[in-house]
Parts: sequence; C-alpha cells; structure tokens
Amino acid sequence: MARYTPESKDRVRDAVDMVDLVSARVDLRRAGPSRYEGLCPFHDERTPSFGINPAEKVYHCFGCKASGDVFTFVMETEAVDFKGALELLADRYGVELELEDEDPQVAARRKRRERLYALLERAAAYYERYLWESDEAAAARAYLTERGFGEPVLREFRVGYAPSAWDKLMVGSLRAGFTEEELYAAGLGQRSRERGTLYDRFRGRVMFPLADQRGRVLGFGARALRDNQQPKYLNTSDGEVYHKGRQLFGADRARAHAAKAGAVIVVEGYTDVLALHQAGLHNAVGLMGTALTDEQVAELARLAPRVELALDADSAGREAMLRAAKGAAGRKLELRVVPMPAGTDPAELVLRDGADAVTALVAGSVPFVRFRIERSLASGDLGSAEGRDRVLEEVREVLAAIPRGTLREELTRLVADRLDLSADLVASLVAAAPAPAASATDGTTAVAVAPRGARAVLDRRERTERQFLALCIALPEQGREALRGVREEEHFTGELVRRAARHLRPRLATPLADLPPGDEELAALISELVVEAGRAPATAETLQVEGLQLEKARLEREIASARADGRLEVGRLATEREDVLRRLREWGSGV
Ligand code: CTP
Ligand code: MN
Repeated sequence: MARYTPESKDRVRDAVDMVDLVSARVDLRRAGPSRYEGLCPFHDERTPSFGINPAEKVYHCFGCKASGDVFTFVMETEAVDFKGALELLADRYGVELELEDEDPQVAARRKRRERLYALLERAAAYYERYLWESDEAAAARAYLTERGFGEPVLREFRVGYAPSAWDKLMVGSLRAGFTEEELYAAGLGQRSRERGTLYDRFRGRVMFPLADQRGRVLGFGARALRDNQQPKYLNTSDGEVYHKGRQLFGADRARAHAAKAGAVIVVEGYTDVLALHQAGLHNAVGLMGTALTDEQVAELARLAPRVELALDADSAGREAMLRAAKGAAGRKLELRVVPMPAGTDPAELVLRDGADAVTALVAGSVPFVRFRIERSLASGDLGSAEGRDRVLEEVREVLAAIPRGTLREELTRLVADRLDLSADLVASLVAAAPAPAASATDGTTAVAVAPRGARAVLDRRERTERQFLALCIALPEQGREALRGVREEEHFTGELVRRAARHLRPRLATPLADLPPGDEELAALISELVVEAGRAPATAETLQVEGLQLEKARLEREIASARADGRLEVGRLATEREDVLRRLREWGSGV
C-alpha cells in the first residue's frame, strides 16, 4: 500500500498552528510563556487541567492523562486513523503530501537527500571548528569581535570560517566518503570553467549556516572579510536542497522564543539577527536580503501572531514591508513597523546605542497602517490642494480597511489635522470608500470590516445627476466644458446637487478645496462624488453620454410641465428630445 513519505509528515507538523487547531475544540487561555490551558476535550471537567505547548505542538491533560501531538489530537477528536489525520491536516494547512510508493527510485531519492544533508552538516561543523581553531581565522575572529559578537552567540548560530585554500573542504569530504558530484549538488563545490575540475565554492569567508526549522543545515551565507572581495555575501544557490525564498535565517533558533513572546521580529541581514539575539531579542529572523515571498509570510504567520518589521526605511525595505502587508491580508497576522533611524541596520544600532536602545525601539513599534499613513503624509505635497487630494486618495482606503475603533479614529484625526480638513469630512470620505476586498490592509484582522455609509437609495434621476458630476471630477478638463452647457436650476432637481454643481464649477481639479464651513451635507456629497470619480471608468464618451442623459431628463420635465400648462413649446421640446435620443443611440447607450 502506498504510504506518505516521512518528510510529508514532518512538513505537516511544521505547518500546523497548534493553538489554532486546538481552539476549534477548546476555549484556550494563555497560561504561561509557552502554555495554553482549557477544559479537556477528552473528559468531563469543570476546571481546566488540559494544556498545550504551542511551540512543541503537544498536549497533555493532568486529569485524564490524555496526551499526544497534532496527529493524535485529530485522530481522537475527529475519529480518524493516522492517515486520515495526516490528510486532514495537510488539507487544512495547505501542505502537499508525497506518496512513498514501492518504487526503489523514491527510496534512492530519500537516501540521496540524507547524504546531502549529512555532507552539509559535516561542512558546517568543519567551518565552525576552523573559525575557532585555525591560525588563518584569527582575522575573522578579530573582525567578529570588533563587530561586537561574543562567542556564545557565534556558537549558537554555528558561525564558521571557510579557509582560503581551494580544496580543503573538498579533500576532507572526499576522504569521509562523499563524492565530487555530491559536493557539487550540495552547493559546496564549484567547477572550473576550463577543465570542469571541482574546487571549494566558499573560501576566505565568514560562514553563516542556513538551517531549516528543525536546525538541519541546507546551505550557507558567506560574508567577505576583505574590502576587495566580491560579492559581499556569497550564498548557496538554489538547488536540490536549498531554496532561498523558502527560508528565514534563524527561524530554528527563534521558533520557541517567538511562540513565547507572541511576536517575531523581522530584520534584513544575518548580522542583524545575531545582534538582536545577543541583545536579548531571541525572536528575530532574517530575510537575507530577498524580497519577502508568500512562503516566508506563511512561515512568519506560523512563528507568531504578531510580526515586527525592523527593516531599513530605504526602498528595498519599504517594498518588503508592503509585500508583507499584502501577504498578511487575509491571515490572522498583526503587522507592526519598528521605526528604524534612517541608514542604520539593527546590528549597527546595537553596537552604537546598546541593547536597551534597540529593545526600546522594538517596543515602540507602530501598527503598519499608522506607518503607511504617516509615510503618505510625510511624502505628499501638503502645500497644494492637488497634493492634499492625492494624499487623501492614498490614505482613504488604508483608513477604510481599519476596523472601526480607537486606532481608526485617531488616524482619521491625524489625517484631518495634517490636511487641514475637518475630521468629519475625512470620516465621511472614508465611509464612502469602496469596501475593501476581503483583506485588511494592515493585516490586523482576518475579516475586513467593510465600512458602509447608510446610503439612501437614489432614484434614477438623481443618480444621473451625481454620476455626471462625478465624471466631471474624474475628467476636469472635459468636465469644465460639459458644465458650461449645464444650468443648475434646470438640469439638477435637488437643492443639494445644485449647491454641489455651483461649488464644483470653478474647482473641478480640487473638489475638496474651499468647502464652505458648516455645510456638512455638501461636504459629504462632494466627498462621495470624489470617491465615485475614482471608481467609475471615466472616458470622454461616458461623460458625453451622462451629459445627454442629463439633458434628456431636463427635456422630459419641461415637456411634462408644458403639457400640463397647455403651452405650445411641446412640439419643439419633443423634437429636441428626439435629437438627444438619436445621439444617445449613436453612442450605443440605452435610452
Ligand atoms: N545579501 C546577499 N547578498 C549580497 C548582499 C546582501 O545575500 N550580495 C543579503 C544578506 O543576507 C545580508 C542582507 O542581504 O545579510 C542584508 O544586506 P546588507 O545590509 O548589505 O548586509 P548586512 O546584513 O548589513 O551585512 P553586514 O552587517 O555584515 O555588513
Ligand atoms: Mn549591517
């Protein structure tokens, strides 16, 4: 019978969120650094004696002595066998299971992988020993000391040194029974271009082993020591065992601490991770300079419910943050941003200002949404009405995606203050924003709260009038032209829309400027039109059509009133109406 590979089982276990899994059955309460408690699902009780350890992913009941791991938990609670539990969890946590068939090729593949792991492990141990024991590594040791790294943290992360000779690792590995081909496949060997002979890929560099969650070495990041050594970091390239977008540096060391703290700190580099660990922030992991991938975001979500981004405020760091926000949307992942002083990374900061300063900085992290909004405010041109409108447009959706509450209120006030608008106006703009897709921009909630203004159902006539004005805002040039042919009293039926048209005529490009104080009704309508303008696909044609609809409605009202009064213009008006209808038909628009 076909079986799933042992790797499949490991991957499923890694992917399961124990708290999430058990919460479906048990009302869990945090009861310690790495412990949750609740009423035992396996026996009847009134006081909780059932506990889980979310990092180790095990449970135990002190009452009935039930205990086990994620698989037994599902077997017991869902009444399935082991295979069923594995499949159910794989499905729920998005892991693809691999079948281990009788095919000897599969067995061969597993053996092959195990040999590569063993080779990499051997290399890590070799580099590590070389750093501490060789004369050649004296400069590397001095360098690391100068950067403030003590022996304990270097030992914990198994930092090493690769000798500068061409073949030291290779010779040792071959002697230990590995082949040249295996050295090459593991990313440790490189072939010369001329003769294809193998030599060591890493030479004269400080070695940072890249391990998976379970601490298995998959590859290395190798830092240059001398200024003329290029590149600064040489990494294992993607291959049979290492895939760079899949790993976070230090995840194996950070895992338990992140679970305990309920948060994981994300930094850019290897040295940043080491520096934070040494400063007592053991829940830090490194992106290794890559753009954050979806797989890494998923991994972060498994490490902790809160992510503190301590990335450079430069464009690469900002990009990573935006990607994190996208990835966080739809997950129960709270994103926060640590305000990093420009141009310094966490490692430099620890060295310069000490561990306490960095701890304080991380403690002062702000919700990602606040960071986004403050950035928009800081980078926008607040000196002009156009600039303010653009900023408003940018922050509107961010605000709309924040669940109603104190934070949203506070940020709304901040925006209003800085843009010199009333908080009510900003709030009404936000309320009129299109409902965000099932995603909160900040990732603080899995379920986006769609703000819905209590919008009265408008009749068709009023819809036409508003749509027309919205299109004028969307296309200010053509809009000004179109408005020239419009008379407020005749083309618009409500007093409010007339006020809006009068307000807009001279300021189509900056509709929110100079709103008369005290007219909240007008302010609300204008903001609604601005929002509508941003949403409608605006073209010169749609504006034309909407203008004709407006004219048609006007003529129909005139005709009705002329008829009622028995006036003679009815014939002329009817002809004009026919003309409008013909033009509408030419546009292919329904009449
Ligand atoms: N990186 C890389 N390859 C490079 C440069 C950078 O893989 N050529 C990755 C490394 O993981 C590095 C991270 O990007 O740690 C951040 O790069 P950088 O800020 O340049 O390096 P630091 O981590 O600050 O390294 P150091 O502190 O040793 O200068
Ligand atoms: Mn650095």
